[in-house]
Amino acid sequence: MPRLTIALSKGRILKDTLPLLKEAGIELLEDPEKSRKLIFPTTHPEVQIVIIRATDVPTYVENGAADLGVAGKDVLMEHGAGGVYEPLDLDIAKCRLMVAGPVNAPVVEGRLRIATKFVNLTRQYYAEKGEQVEVIKLYGSMELAPLMGLADRIVDVVDTGKTLKENGLEPTELIAHVSSRLIVNKASFKRKAEIVQPLIRQLADAVARKRVG
Ligand code: ATP
Ligand code: PRP
Repeated sequence: MPRLTIALSKGRILKDTLPLLKEAGIELLEDPEKSRKLIFPTTHPEVQIVIIRATDVPTYVENGAADLGVAGKDVLMEHGAGGVYEPLDLDIAKCRLMVAGPVNAPVVEGRLRIATKFVNLTRQYYAEKGEQVEVIKLYGSMELAPLMGLADRIVDVVDTGKTLKENGLEPTELIAHVSSRLIVNKASFKRKAEIVQPLIRQLADAVARKRVG
């Protein structure tokens, strides 16, 4: 039984994290994008990787079901990141968390209706601005909500801006710059220090090399 479990999510986080893990001597023995398995052994006998939904990564790591994980800052802000250590910015999956609305949208009288999957961080953002808003929880395709009259604005991540543009929307406010972070269970950080700390160092070196190169 491997001593260390790392939680990753399919898609861009997996794709961008695997090359960094490779530099730390950890490679998957099977391609998870082509498998229905959820637990994957690696070339490192002490390390296994579990593949879960992006939003579930902080939950697994906080509860110690996984020792380490990789999660977007957006997901960590939404989850509340106090329950885990966040020792390293992996500088991958970079985007911006933004408010967006229809191009040249008129000022809304009364409470703004905002569709998002990030309900907690959206409430917090507007509370800090002292604005009363109605937050509508969605699970995806937020860009559709203003087009269909479900909401006045959305809060979502933006990279190239293509998705907004193709749906007649424009970004209006920047909430936060986002990249993916290595997160570590607090107990594992201490109890498994002899394996966790060298791994953090190797990943930090890999990130630094990538930044320079
Ligand atoms: P799920 O599919 O489980 O709902 P998700 O769609 O948020 O999760 P991904 O699309 O793989 O999962 O995104 C993972 C992380 O990558 C996000 O939390 C965010 O930090 C970042 N991200 C999301 N969209 C983009 C993008 N277009 N460009 C760059 N980074 C992005
Ligand atoms: C994300 C996000 C936006 C889009 C922004 O979706 O939810 O819709 O990327 O990227 P852009 O500014 O470059 O267009 P993703 O690609 O993850 O698809 P999803 O809806 O399946 O999450």
